[in-house]
Amino acid sequence: MRLCDLLTATLSGLAMLGTVTCALAQIPGARRVGGFVPGQERPPGDPVQIARGKTLYEIGCRGCHGTDLRGGDMGGPNLLRSQVSLSDLDGELIVPIIEGSRQGMPKIPMSVADAKATSAYVRSIVATIGGQGMPPSIGQLPPNIVVGDAKAGQIYFDSKCAACHSTNGDMKGGDLKGIAKRISDPKILQNTWVAGGGRPGRGAAVQTASKARIVTASINTANGDRFEGKLVRIDDFLVTLEIEDGSLKTFRRNGDSPKVVVRDPMKPHRDLLPTYTDKDIHDVTAYLVTLK
Ligand code: HEC
Ligand code: HEC
Repeated sequence: MRLCDLLTATLSGLAMLGTVTCALAQIPGARRVGGFVPGQERPPGDPVQIARGKTLYEIGCRGCHGTDLRGGDMGGPNLLRSQVSLSDLDGELIVPIIEGSRQGMPKIPMSVADAKATSAYVRSIVATIGGQGMPPSIGQLPPNIVVGDAKAGQIYFDSKCAACHSTNGDMKGGDLKGIAKRISDPKILQNTWVAGGGRPGRGAAVQTASKARIVTASINTANGDRFEGKLVRIDDFLVTLEIEDGSLKTFRRNGDSPKVVVRDPMKPHRDLLPTYTDKDIHDVTAYLVTLK
């Protein structure tokens, strides 16, 4: 699946964002940061704006930059350590990035007011952690992330997750029995499924991960050849597969030709992402923590 499609699908859920364009635009002249001192005086945050920014962040940014801004499964860097977010005063540094000034990050379609609100939210989180690069919950005991209702979490799990995951050791692959023993930090445990369903620390959009997560694709060319393999990269113009013998095959794309079918085992996770409320996330994590 193309990142673009994901973003468009995700963002089109939010009516006020208006027209969704999907250009992985490479706009030259990215603004450089310089001359700002972290922690310098900032205008006080407006709580209404910050609350709106939080919602926008969760829809448009969280997949890549993570629930707690520490960086996400889809390759966004840690914003808590970012000079940009430390130095931003009123969106003047962050808004251009949202508008596509960085080659590495797609333009996120939203109005300037919304981009400013998202920036305000990023600043508000950065302010609470003082630039240490640590999310608020790390180092506090007990970890304040386990605040949900495990019973409600189990009900949610049974309806939304149980199609692919069992919890009693009877299903290969998707079995989550003992997950809380394997991943004892609740924050990391939460990230395994909320941040697009990957273990933390992985960085690329098309990943190298456990077998169960490998994104594959099949390609049918116009003259009837068929290729299958691991998806290495895909955009509007080219698609590259790693085929069985380890070699790479790249095809030029021209609309629907060749026909490409992508299979991403983690897609359901990403599709669920925008549907979670904070309460769902807390409840499900509280439930997963009991799976020792
Ligand atoms: C598809 C993944 C993706 C999404 C979605 C995304 N980002 Fe990014 N973001 C990145 C990547 C990758 C970079 C690093 C870009 C580069 O090469 O400079 C980045 C860089 C940034 C930076 C600069 C960090 C630094 O110090 O250099 C900021 C700030 C930022 N993003 C904010 C946001 C905000 C706010 C949103 C949501 C409105 C967002 N991003 C959505 C992937 C993403
Ligand atoms: C359509 C199938 C599907 C659905 C629905 C689904 N998942 Fe997953 N999930 C997967 C796959 C595939 C993996 C990757 C398995 C692997 O890496 O071994 C995964 C991985 C995970 C992991 C990490 C497991 C590990 O060992 O690191 C957790 C935790 C998880 N899912 C929780 C959830 C939760 C919670 C929900 C519901 C909100 C959910 N999943 C819904 C397919 C699904």
